[in-house]
Amino acid sequence: MSESIMGASPRRVDGRLKVTGAAHYASDHQPRGMVFAYGVYSTVASGSIKSLDIDAARRSPGVLEILHHGNFPQAFHTSPVPFSLAGVLSGSRTDEKRLPFEDNVVRYAGQFVALVVADTFEHAREAAYKVKVSYSESAAAANLEQGLKRKAAADGGQGHKRGDPAGAFDGGAQTVDATYTTPVETHNPMEMHATVAMWDNGKLVVYESTQSVVVHRNTLAQIFGLPTERVEVRAPFIGSGFGGKLWIWPHSVAACAAAKVVGRPVQLVIPRAQMFTTVGHRPETRQRMRLAADGKGKLVSLRHESLNTTGIGDQYVENCGGMSASLYSCANVEVTHGTVQVNRGAPTSMRAPGAAPGLFALESAIDELAERCKMDPLAFRQLNWAEQNEQENLPWSGNHLREALAQGAERFGWANRKPGIGSMRDGHEIVGYGMAQCNWDAFRTPCEARVSLTAGGRAVVYCGGQDIGTGTYTVLAQCVSDITGLPLDRITVELGNSSYPPAPVSGGSWMTASALPAVAEATRVALTQLKSFAASEEGGLPNAKAEAITVSNGRLQDGSTSLEFAEVLKKLKIASAEGEAHTGMADTKKHAFSSFGAHFVEVRWDPGISRLRVSRVVSAIDVGKVINGKTARNQVEGAIVMAIGMALFESTDYDERNGMPVNNNYAEYVVPVHADQPEIDVILLDYPDYNLNEYGARGVGEIGVTGLAAAVANAVYHATGKRVRNLPITLEKLMDGVPTVSV
Ligand code: MOS
Repeated sequence: MSESIMGASPRRVDGRLKVTGAAHYASDHQPRGMVFAYGVYSTVASGSIKSLDIDAARRSPGVLEILHHGNFPQAFHTSPVPFSLAGVLSGSRTDEKRLPFEDNVVRYAGQFVALVVADTFEHAREAAYKVKVSYSESAAAANLEQGLKRKAAADGGQGHKRGDPAGAFDGGAQTVDATYTTPVETHNPMEMHATVAMWDNGKLVVYESTQSVVVHRNTLAQIFGLPTERVEVRAPFIGSGFGGKLWIWPHSVAACAAAKVVGRPVQLVIPRAQMFTTVGHRPETRQRMRLAADGKGKLVSLRHESLNTTGIGDQYVENCGGMSASLYSCANVEVTHGTVQVNRGAPTSMRAPGAAPGLFALESAIDELAERCKMDPLAFRQLNWAEQNEQENLPWSGNHLREALAQGAERFGWANRKPGIGSMRDGHEIVGYGMAQCNWDAFRTPCEARVSLTAGGRAVVYCGGQDIGTGTYTVLAQCVSDITGLPLDRITVELGNSSYPPAPVSGGSWMTASALPAVAEATRVALTQLKSFAASEEGGLPNAKAEAITVSNGRLQDGSTSLEFAEVLKKLKIASAEGEAHTGMADTKKHAFSSFGAHFVEVRWDPGISRLRVSRVVSAIDVGKVINGKTARNQVEGAIVMAIGMALFESTDYDERNGMPVNNNYAEYVVPVHADQPEIDVILLDYPDYNLNEYGARGVGEIGVTGLAAAVANAVYHATGKRVRNLPITLEKLMDGVPTVSV
């Protein structure tokens, strides 16, 4: 077993709990005496609260308290020190800088203006509807365009410049100068944001749907002026987050304050409509791409100038150019970012932040440039492969992009592509082939873990990370099994509690690469202790040298004698052997760590009825060592489906007249459903990256969403001749005679 479990495909160890309903999510927790909170949300996007009439709401049945800016208890701002990879275990972060109810200013529609607490959910909601708010409304900046008219873009940093990009552009044989836009996209996890908060003797305990129990704990401690020891955040199961649940949002602070005021546990669930307003989103972007190639198709200049919207008083930078400085070999490069304040809630990370919209622009522009060079887009990319990271001037820890291109092209049948626009027909449908590269940096953060080998015959892992649905429980159990030889059913993984040894956020595709080394090391430390127990007088292997004892199949072995782990402990009447570990970051001075891949997409366009389908996707991706084939493949497939949403459907729209969200519901915010899903074929290349960690595993959650929208747009162009530079690719943009929106 120990030879093969890393890289095998066992089922999720938490699967049964999930399908039987035994897995409890945040709002499933109902501590004794719990009451319910319901928000009153601003119905204007900009202005201030003139007056709040809460008399009728107060008289409504079951009401215990109504909080608002006039009576909200004292709370503190979080540390101004920026959140960092190295400081992830002690860091705090809020993307919306202002605390809830801090003042009477309204900065976006859907902002909390009051919070009703009542004995039941229905009573709280009924009373919330009776709160009368009058606003003094001012003109809202409803979108990037309007925001720019009001105030120039602020520098977003994260820029890069090398060579002479302007000069090289002017001297280029072929050039592209085009602007691409992406709309606001909203995270739509099945489980809405939810908090159950309770105070017990000055200690705050919170069930939260969060991607980071530790950072959430650290942040709450700062906001309420408590030592971290007095706050515990629990999230044993999360109905996904996609980045929307990385950092704390106003509802969590509001629920904790309300629980303190009423002296009872309080539950607050964010309604779906407010999932679009007060808990983050992927911001709107506008990206100007200027590319030039020489007469042989060699890229000689690449400029990526990106703007994104951010909230009033907030500074969120969508790092769209993050990949542009290193994905291709190019001597002359410039990347810039700017932010534009608009009357929307604070934006935040959404799956592959920066890279998802950034690679839409880059990989569309590369396709346009390849065409000008009269080159096949695959050949153009092969020619411009970056042998090393030219931004960092470092060798890649691993870059198997060329294999990904070759294997993906082969499996897809790219050689059958006819270059002519609209030249591939199948009955009344026009078939388009498009491709794009994908890219996501690989990270490893500090992490801690504890492992107990118990007298009951089990191994138990304690780690303050979380499983947001990706398979963390399973891969950590595989790791312990690999080292101990215990079967998976004798291994318990405990995650999702901030009182466990601290671990990073389940985000940035960090978790697997960061937690595996900590859990592996803690397991080895526990085994070392167990061996020394065994070698003691009563331990069962008294004649052995502890270092000489070997481990296999959950047993310790010395010569011809072997004992189960638990037998050693039972002989000594000791409850467990324990191991703890703290593991650090990878050495980013010697190597640049990144994952690469290629998407190949087939679309079908039926011009008679204006029907567009993504009909086939082949993606070849190098994510380092694949620890669990089932969960890893599932991540990439899910990311591809999400990216089809980005390409064809998703756009959170705001009324230009007043900044109000228009489609803040599942009926009108269109996401891909089963009927939209093509045949998806994922090739995982499986080259271990041992510079990153001992198993060679890099993250897998985000890379699949990058580049795919461009591959779709490129395929749509191949089928229709319409170059859609403004996502999503809705049907009216493809119909003849209907003008495409252009910026
Ligand atoms: Mo991911 S956007 O870092 O959860």
